[in-house]
Amino acid sequence: MSKAKRDTRVIATYNIKGGVGKTSAAVNLAYLAAKAGHPTLLWDLDPQAASTFLFRVRPKVEGGGRGLLRKRSRTAQHIKATDHENLELLPADFSYRHLDLALDQFKKPAGRLRKVLAPLRADYDYIFLDCPPSISLVSEAVFEASDALLVPVIPATLSSRAYEQLEELSRSGKVGRRGRTSILAFFSMANVSKQLHLQVMERLRKIDQLTVLGAAIPTADEVEMMGEERNPVPVFAPDGTAAVAYAALWAEIEQRLHSAPAGS
Ligand SMILES: Nc1ncnc2c1ncn2[C@@H]1O[C@H](COP(=O)(O)OP(=O)(O)O)[C@@H](O)[C@H]1O
Ligand SMILES: [Mg+2]
Repeated sequence: MSKAKRDTRVIATYNIKGGVGKTSAAVNLAYLAAKAGHPTLLWDLDPQAASTFLFRVRPKVEGGGRGLLRKRSRTAQHIKATDHENLELLPADFSYRHLDLALDQFKKPAGRLRKVLAPLRADYDYIFLDCPPSISLVSEAVFEASDALLVPVIPATLSSRAYEQLEELSRSGKVGRRGRTSILAFFSMANVSKQLHLQVMERLRKIDQLTVLGAAIPTADEVEMMGEERNPVPVFAPDGTAAVAYAALWAEIEQRLHSAPAGS
């Protein structure tokens, strides 16, 4: 394929909260994209390095986060292969806990990640950003760099505060360049009665700019077992409920992403 023509989509798994299924989604969806033949990169932006661990890669980037953000940084040389065809990883590094400070040195910090990713767009159809749970300068830079924010929401714990945060996010105008990044929410660890599920979904649908996807990820042992297996779910439990749910989720996301024009 001609380098200039690749129609790359950048997808960030994002939520201000930890433990909601961001990493599980990033790892499984990136795997599914790659398995379908798309050259795919996952950048593990979380210093806790969970997705780096799941892909059996050492959480180390020479020169750290500061080095990666530098102008003319040679980002590509820090990318590692995974055990899976078409799937590569830019690992986490413990220094990412200071990524805010590193970004702050730039005149336009929010645009920096987008610039770092620009040359990589030639090599990948999909770039996943697995984000740390925070709202920070890093998140702002992620919003600006992404075509879509994929937000896992646990229906049972959708406190009014979480709802307000999603609403704020949607209204802030901080999500992407002039609000062009779409926010795609999906239910994660869903195990509630349909009634509650529907109520929560109905509330979420009232948020501007936010799309609630139809596919949901149920609570499933296989997802927890990823930590033992150190593999995406479809590799070791291809017929389980989780693998089926992630496949449905990915199909829906892909369809959404390609009905909107690419970000650059
Ligand atoms: N659908 C699920 N069913 C069961 N356990 C899950 C599910 N999704 C995530 N988990 C577990 O919950 C924990 C947090 O998930 P993770 O994807 O790391 O969240 P985050 O990246 O948002 O912190 C992990 O131990 C993971 O195995
Ligand atoms: Mg995580």
